[in-house]
Amino acid sequence: MARPPNLIAPSLLSCDFARLAEETRRIEAAGADWLHVDVMDGHFVPNLTIGPPVVAALDAVATRPLDVHLMISEPRRYAPQFARAGAHVLTFHREVVDSISAAREVIAAFRDEGVSQVGVALNPDTPVESVGDLLDEVDLVLVMSVFPGFGGQRFMGEVLPKVRWLRERGFDKHVEMDGGLNGETLPLCAAAGTNVFVAGSAIFGAADVPGTIAAFRAAAEGVHAARG
Ligand code: DX5
Ligand code: ZN
Repeated sequence: MARPPNLIAPSLLSCDFARLAEETRRIEAAGADWLHVDVMDGHFVPNLTIGPPVVAALDAVATRPLDVHLMISEPRRYAPQFARAGAHVLTFHREVVDSISAAREVIAAFRDEGVSQVGVALNPDTPVESVGDLLDEVDLVLVMSVFPGFGGQRFMGEVLPKVRWLRERGFDKHVEMDGGLNGETLPLCAAAGTNVFVAGSAIFGAADVPGTIAAFRAAAEGVHAARG
């Protein structure tokens, strides 16, 4: 099966918010492929982060795609604002819709707004089968390896079978893992079939940021090479 390219997506949640432009340039120069942007509404998750104006400000300085992870209860309502702000990848959570048809409406709304790539995300306790009927319609599945809301949490290895399930089912688009990725856990994600690796604290907290991104990329490539 053709495998999509490995992409390293540092989460800006762990950057210095007082210097967003500088941090964006720094992380791009360090080798980021995508910039992961965590949007939280204080309702779907117990935290508040950034909204469309800040995404637009990031878009003004970024040269890499903005990978916008919506941890919000009403993705459809805010789709136009995030699309206009420059979200390249726009991902909503499966938990915020109660049916496949409602999920399809969100996907259609995102596409109508001109979003390039649409993703659906799964909390650690949401079964992967709940997106089985959406796989032909999305560009990305985001498998959360922590409960969303905060950076710096411990990786939950029990979600890895979800990635394997997606690949065994023939899903050949992006599978993204988010939460607790570091030098030890990233190879496990890659071996399961993940190709987009989000990391916040492990990258922004590193003494050598370019070296860490390069090491993550090498680890992902190494695992995939070994799989053939
Ligand atoms: C968690 C966010 C993650 C978070 C990852 O709710 O969705 O993207 O920033 O941070 P680390 O890599 O520190 O777990
Ligand atoms: Zn995220």
